[in-house]
Parts: sequence; structure tokens; C-alpha cells
Amino acid sequence: MNKKEAKIKIEQLTQTIREHNHNYYVLNSPTITDFEYDILLADLAQLEKMFPQFAYPDSPTQTVGSDLFKQSDNTNETHKQKSFLQHTHKYPMLSLSNTYSIEELNSFNDRIIKGTSGEFNYSCELKFDGTAICLTYKNGELVRALTRGDGSIGDDVTLNVKQIKSIPHTLKNSPTLPDEFEIRGEIYMPYSAFDNLNYQRELEEEPPFANPRNAAAGSLKQLDPEIVKERGLECTLYHLITPSPIAQTHWEALQLAKEWGLPISEHSRICNDINEVFNYINEWDTKRRELPFATDGIVIKVNQLNVQQSLGYTAKSPRWATAFKFKPEQALTPLLSVDYQVGRTGAVTPVANLEPVQLSGTMVKRASLHNADQIELLDIKIGDYVYVEKGGEIIPKITGVEKGKREESVKDIVFPTQCPVCGATLVRDTDEAKHFCPNSDNCPPQIKGKFIHFISRKAMAINAGEATIEQLYNKGLIYSLSDLYSIKEEELLSLDKWKEKSVKNFLDSLEKSKNVPFERVLYALGIRHVGETTAKSLAYAYKSIDNLADATKEDLLQIDEIGEKLADSIVNYFMDSRHIQMIGEMKQAGLKLSIDSSANAIESEKLKGLTIVISGNFSISREELKKTIEKHSGKVGSSISSNTNYMVAGEKCGPSKLQKAEKLGTKIISEEEFYKLIQD
Ligand code: IVH
Repeated sequence: MNKKEAKIKIEQLTQTIREHNHNYYVLNSPTITDFEYDILLADLAQLEKMFPQFAYPDSPTQTVGSDLFKQSDNTNETHKQKSFLQHTHKYPMLSLSNTYSIEELNSFNDRIIKGTSGEFNYSCELKFDGTAICLTYKNGELVRALTRGDGSIGDDVTLNVKQIKSIPHTLKNSPTLPDEFEIRGEIYMPYSAFDNLNYQRELEEEPPFANPRNAAAGSLKQLDPEIVKERGLECTLYHLITPSPIAQTHWEALQLAKEWGLPISEHSRICNDINEVFNYINEWDTKRRELPFATDGIVIKVNQLNVQQSLGYTAKSPRWATAFKFKPEQALTPLLSVDYQVGRTGAVTPVANLEPVQLSGTMVKRASLHNADQIELLDIKIGDYVYVEKGGEIIPKITGVEKGKREESVKDIVFPTQCPVCGATLVRDTDEAKHFCPNSDNCPPQIKGKFIHFISRKAMAINAGEATIEQLYNKGLIYSLSDLYSIKEEELLSLDKWKEKSVKNFLDSLEKSKNVPFERVLYALGIRHVGETTAKSLAYAYKSIDNLADATKEDLLQIDEIGEKLADSIVNYFMDSRHIQMIGEMKQAGLKLSIDSSANAIESEKLKGLTIVISGNFSISREELKKTIEKHSGKVGSSISSNTNYMVAGEKCGPSKLQKAEKLGTKIISEEEFYKLIQD
């Protein structure tokens, strides 16, 4: 390669890697695998070594990818992400060098031996595939949690982190506990929570997360800590930083942290030489498949803190540690045909039928192709040999085509124009990657999907599963959601496998669901884009389904949190006479279709005579906060005037409102101060 070519290649690679960094760290939606990314980075590093004159001073080989969120970033989540308060890290938060090769790991070991005079050993640990976090404890209390950010400044996600069960807010008292210290680690999402989340997202028509890492990183940057609470995140900590030394080794330091109550991995091991390190790696390369969470390698750290100190750091990573990463397992197999699956929401997903092939211990026959764009991007044809991979994800995916093996007989994949189940013409909105079947009330998988959502735990919590819905639907007993409430005991008893006890359980559970509060019934209806939080806001704002059905788009847009797409969806839903009829039948059956008067009941007169304006984002929805003001006899004002007594300022509170409040001398209080007003 000549100089000119090298300059261009370095420019291109730098730009490409920067884009991938943004997709991975900010949008939590990578478009290439970690392995592909690491190859790009290694290529760039090699070119920079050969042509240092063309290397950018802030090259991705010299800096850590930034997760700092900018307002202009479009994210994988429908709920708005906020720009967090940011703080400078007391000590830079670096990354790790990594390798996939045994030779390079041997060279790492040689370098350590050369650079060290005294005795040392290694601490070998699992490399948790999540998102890095830095916790600060002061006098035993968790005071701050920062993301890695760009390595020197991180996003303050303390409120969100406080929702993670495995992170203690207060530590056990111990003579070894420093007054103040930092501890770093990884926040990750176990597979079970990940499956659950993607299932919910599918029901709510939100794009699924590609893998548990993205799900963990995306969840940590949520606006509402309540959402974080439900996401089942976990944490493991692996790097203690104290102002003055409290141990001689990294291992001892973590043992102390464990005694204080912090979550430290049970799977780490001291290895006395590189052979023991290789044994550890080999052991975990297989055993990691049984873990309930994703790992992407092994981290090897020099254990002695004085040796760590003498080895020091490069701009990007410590010289005393490295990561050995596991190559994703791949298989090459012919693509036989493509099926099109219609999901509960009407989304049409192409699924590849493959010549069965062995991959990570299981036989793979089918793999997701995601959507039409993905097929085009990979340029796949029927008959092609395709690469199948099981990365962090559970469902195998096709990552590429072996073009060298392509034969003349390959055929184009033609995406259908009609729904393969009901025949309706498919639609694809300009901003959607997926094709949808619009026939939501008559297309069988969508009807069944509506029932499955309706009976789910967060909706009507009816004691039944998918198989029951399938059976009832196939027998023609249910079509519209309200049909559930008119099923007769004899009808159930006549069905296969139903006994008196199961019939009774099912009917009792239906009866019990009649007490489910209005906001959950509203969520259970499955109106497009109306998730749990929106359902709550709508229920508080409109109080009854009849009021909501009468609302115009303009009315709906007045509510905080309701945008164009949601308003349209709600108005369209109530324009359909079949929905009105179904709601009538639900009323007849006795479901709660309005807010309980007890839910509106006045709890105190603490705010009597006070007009309160709220602005910004709070730990609860704005509608809930307004409701709380009303329950304590206060009046919610829509704008600041001389009659306003208080303004409750949340995060990202409107600057013009703040200015006006200051000008008029209105008392500005925080959410916490507001709660103090209504406390006993
Ligand atoms: S040590 C200076 N230990 O992997 C110390 N990192 O790809 C650097 N990671 O940035 C971190 N498990 O977010 C360390 N046992 C472990 C880890 C670990 C996962 C993450 C961490 C790091 C990234 C590098």
C-alpha cells in the first residue's frame, strides 16, 4: 500500500469505526458484530503503526467510544431519553485491550514478565457483556453512579441505578470501609429478563433489542426510573479504587468489597501462570453457555496492585490487563427457502429455512432475516450458502453470504405483497423497517396476539396461557376480547383436556379480572402504541372510557406525553364501531371502564387553596403528579401567573417557565420538596 492509499484507508476506517461507535454506545443498536468491529479496529491500529503520520490524534484506537447522549440522537426506545446531568470522572474510565488469539495472549504475558521485577499472579474473571458503571460511596451510602461516557465525563444515572436490586444503597459497617471510594463494574441483563423485555416490546410494537448488552445499556438511559426497575437489570463489580491503599492485591480488595455487601463475581480465579490462564479460558469457553447471562470473553488482570502501578496505562487501556474474547461460533449452510411469519402486532418477519447445521451445541434449522432491508443489505438469494451465528442473541441470525459458493441457479427472495395468513395487502410506513398486515381485527395471529396481551400479567392477569387462547380461538369461542366473559362452563367442559378444576380456575380468574383498575383495562385493550405508562396518563386525564372515546385529536395532544402518532392511533381506535360494541359488552360484563371513585378520593386538604404548576420530568408521570396534587385538594395550574403558589420543577424544566416563576416570585420547589408538603 502506498502513502496515498494508506491515508485514504485510515480516513475511511476512522470514519466507519466512529459511526459504529455511535451505533453501539449511544443508539444501543449496532449494525455489525463485535467480532467484525474488532477486526476493523485492529486493521486501523496496524495501518496507524505503519503510517503514524496519518493517524488522527483522537483516533478510535486511542479513545474509548462515548456513550454520552445528545438531544439530537435518535434512539431505539419510544420513550424519550433524557440528556443526563454529567460529571467528570475522578479517575479516567478506560477500556481494555483485547485479543482473540492465543499467540497475542502469550505476548501479553511476555510483556508483563519483561516489565516486572517481582512476583505476580493473575486474576482471571468473566467478561460480562453489559455496560460499564462507576459507583461512588460516601460514608457507606451510594451517592453517585456514572456511565463511562467518553472516559473522562460520564452521564449521571444515579436514580436509575438505585432501582437495580443487586446494588446496595447502604453498605454494611466495617472497620475496613473507606469514608469514600469508587467501584466500577458492569450492569447487565440476564437472558430471562431480556426475553421478557423483548416479548413486551413486541406486544407494544417497539423494535426488539438485538442482544442483552444493548438492552442493558438502553435501559440504563431511560427517562423514568420506574421503567428501569421493571427491567430486571443486575450488576457485578470488578474494580475498586480507594483514595489510599487498603489491600496489596486486586483480589483482596474485591474480597473486602464483598464483605461490605457489594456484588462481586463468584466465578473469578487466581491463576499462577499463563498455562493456568489458558485452562481457565478453556473451561469457561464451554461452561459460559450454562450461565444465565451473556459473557463475551475472559479478563486477565495482574493481581498485585504495586505491579499494576508500575506497568501503568496507555491512553485507552491498562497495560496490566487484557481481554481474551471468544469468537462467535459460525456455521455455513445453504438457505433452502424463506417463510413469512405474521406476529401478534401484524409485523411480518422473514424466517430462513436452512439445511440443518450444528451450532454451539444445538441443531439450527431456522434463522431470522429481520426485514426486507436486511435481505437487501446482505444480498441473500435462495440457494446461497449463508453464515449463521449465535452471538449474544438467543435466536440465530444470518450474518452474511459466502459469495464464492454462489451458483447460477440461486433465486431472488421476493417479499410478499399480501399477508401470508389473511391475504390483506401489506403496508410499510416510511419510517418503519418492517412490513405490517393492517387487518388487525381479522387476521388470526393478530387476534390471538390481542388476547395474549389482554390476559397478560400487567394487563388483566387472567390465569391462562397461549395454548388456551389458541384452543378457544380455534373452537370459535372467542373472536372479540369481550367474548372471554361470555364463555359458558359447559362450553369449556366440552373441550379437550379441560376438567372441572381447570374450568373453575379459569372462570374464577375471569371474575377476578373484573376488579382490575381502569388504567390496566385500557392497557389491556391493546390500542396501538398505548403502553402501560400512556394508559395510566390517559386514565387519570379522562377518568372514563366514554370520555376518552369522545376526545378529539386536539384534546389528546394537550396531554403531556401524547404526541401525534399516539393521538391518531387513539382516535382511529374509537372510530371503529366494532371496538365501541366490544367496549359496550365489556361494560355489560362488569369490567372497570372508569377510574374508581375511591382512586379520586380526597386524601387530605394539605394543598387546599394552593395553585401549583408543574414543569419538567419527574420520577412518576406528569398525570400522576397532577392527580396527587388534586388528591390533596390542590389546584393544578396550566401556566405561571400571579395566582400560582408553587412551581414544581422537574428535570429538564422549561427555562421560560422558570424565568417567569422567578420574575413573579413564585416559589420553585423540587419533586422531593413537593412530597414534603403533603407528608404528615
Ligand atoms: S476491568 C481498567 N473486568 O469490558 C479496568 N472489565 O471491553 C478496565 N468488562 O470497559 C475494566 N467484564 O466495561 C473489567 N471482569 C471485568 C469485566 C470488564 C466486563 C467490560 C468493561 C470494559 C470492557 C472492555
